[in-house]
Amino acid sequence: MTTPDIAWPRTTARLELRLPTEASLDEVLVWRNDPAVTRWLIRTVVEPESFRKTWLASVDDPNDHAVVVHLDGAAVGIASLEVRDGVGQREGSEPWHGVEGSLGYTFDAAVAGRGFATEVATALLDLAFTDLGLLRVTAACFADNTASWRVMEKLGMRREQHGLRDSWHAELGWLDGYTYGILAEEWRSRR
Ligand SMILES: CC(C)(COP(=O)(O)OP(=O)(O)OC[C@H]1O[C@@H](n2cnc3c(N)ncnc32)[C@H](O)[C@@H]1OP(=O)(O)O)[C@@H](O)C(=O)NCCC(=O)NCCS
Repeated sequence: MTTPDIAWPRTTARLELRLPTEASLDEVLVWRNDPAVTRWLIRTVVEPESFRKTWLASVDDPNDHAVVVHLDGAAVGIASLEVRDGVGQREGSEPWHGVEGSLGYTFDAAVAGRGFATEVATALLDLAFTDLGLLRVTAACFADNTASWRVMEKLGMRREQHGLRDSWHAELGWLDGYTYGILAEEWRSRR
């Protein structure tokens, strides 16, 4: 599947999703390593230079739709939709190329609980299914990360996997993980 050119920035009711820049990533780094933010992340504390490098590299990667989320100009969140191959037999036309998306979101703890993650994830699911024509999108989290899976449930995503002790937490040891998924037709029927 060929990835179409996607135009940025995109706006939602209250937020603006922009491609990352050095300046916006510096703003993100002010809160990104806050323990309230890192508690349930897999990539906990990030090293600033490699964080900047990875996020800036996404700008030229057609499969990595990574954005900095701005509220009244301030960088309050980061979110991404990564496109990858689905599962499929390596035979015939191989329609599984680039048909799945993986969704992620992280916000400054100072703006938590205001519906921002749901608003941004909605925009990224629109991107996935309307602009990119993906088949399905998934997102994963620690089972204890209630705020994260509440966002997925509010989006209409289905809990497709409950992995028993499949996720390592540096303080708490082996914990359960959830994977949620949603299909293009399910998303369209909700819009
Ligand atoms: C998870 C995260 C993205 C949610 O962002 P947010 O903007 O607060 O999300 P929303 O406001 O859209 O929705 C959060 C929902 O979780 C609920 N919630 C939040 N904390 C909760 C808790 N401890 N227990 C139960 N529900 C909780 C909120 O009430 C809300 O649900 P509701 O609308 O039904 O009331 C944000 O908390 C965050 O960035 N956390 C740190 C990084 C992280 O964990 N990212 C996800 C990795 S998988």
